[in-house]
Amino acid sequence: MIGVGIIGTGRMGNAHAGNLSKHPRARLVTAYDVNPTQMDAFVKKFPEVKPAATVEEVVNNPEVGFIVITSPTYCHAEGLRAAMATGKPIFCEKPLCRTAEELKEIAPLISSYSNLFAVGFVRRYSAGGIKLLELVKAGKIGKPICCSIDCLVGGWKREWGDWFADYGKSGGCTLDMLAHHIDLANGLFGVPASIYARAIMMPQGPEKPYDYISATTTSKDGVICNMECSWLRSGPSDNFMVVYGEKGALKKSDAHGLQFFAPGQPVEDIPLDDVKVGELEEKVEGDMYVREMAAIIDGIENGHAPLAGAKQAIEAMKVALGMLESAEKGKVVLL
Ligand SMILES: NC(=O)c1ccc[n+]([C@@H]2O[C@H](COP(=O)([O-])OP(=O)(O)OC[C@H]3O[C@@H](n4cnc5c(N)ncnc54)[C@H](O)[C@@H]3O)[C@@H](O)[C@H]2O)c1
Repeated sequence: MIGVGIIGTGRMGNAHAGNLSKHPRARLVTAYDVNPTQMDAFVKKFPEVKPAATVEEVVNNPEVGFIVITSPTYCHAEGLRAAMATGKPIFCEKPLCRTAEELKEIAPLISSYSNLFAVGFVRRYSAGGIKLLELVKAGKIGKPICCSIDCLVGGWKREWGDWFADYGKSGGCTLDMLAHHIDLANGLFGVPASIYARAIMMPQGPEKPYDYISATTTSKDGVICNMECSWLRSGPSDNFMVVYGEKGALKKSDAHGLQFFAPGQPVEDIPLDDVKVGELEEKVEGDMYVREMAAIIDGIENGHAPLAGAKQAIEAMKVALGMLESAEKGKVVLL
């Protein structure tokens, strides 16, 4: 039975705690949140949890064998420093950290970490994400040509004062949301050679906060990837990724799962029911967050690497920060 310690008991802390508390080989032990109201609500919901007074108290609890970092993005580095000092398995929500300086400090530490390190790129654990990577690598669409990613929120509800609406704390929709798709694109085409982006970067002043980015990346093999992401106050929301190749195209979307388009053929729905999660032998019932934690618990027990680890965490940060740098300077960024 793996004892779990949680840092940050907000939305994701609750989500992962809920899934881990139902896992047959995990149990919640302790948690810490800077906000006592959040902590109280968490302990009411999960009465087995012993509230801790500091991050250190969570990570050093001898019953904790797995540390889950679900504090806000700008606090990840602080949680990671404490967690890594213990040598215990770690899961850190995405993005890995907030700034280039933090990345410079954290990247070598997680790259050489002696135990499991997983980052919350949950789409790597979704059946559609796994199958898309597998089919493109297997040559289903032939040589990839280009890719189109839309990750649009049209009814964003956060207000000024919320850390998500503080660009310095969250990195806006680019670091917070697009990072997932940047990671999938990295998995498909490698880290891009060049990036050009235009972005709003959450301007101060308007009554309600909003954000938008349009970025074009070019891989070392010449695959052009166009990505659009938003936190806007009105308009429709959408979430899809299309990879176009010389022999066909694959589209992964929240609305229609995974579909294959071949010239002159009807659209083919790709079955996803039997897609395995990494090395996990057992079938996991539940959404991608349930699959993510199930695979990571299995990884801790059996020494399997997570589907999203240090490499994926660092590479996605480099590309996301490159997009922000390009938008800030109005220049192409070469990686
Ligand atoms: N993988 C995903 O799909 C997904 C979805 C949403 C959020 N996230 C990521 O998860 C992280 C948390 O997001 P959230 O939506 O749960 O935010 P949240 O604001 O709901 O929760 C964060 C919690 O951390 C607490 N906190 C603040 N500073 C802290 C500190 N120094 N130490 C401990 N706790 C602290 C806050 O009081 C709050 O309860 C973010 O990095 C976010 O980008 C990932």
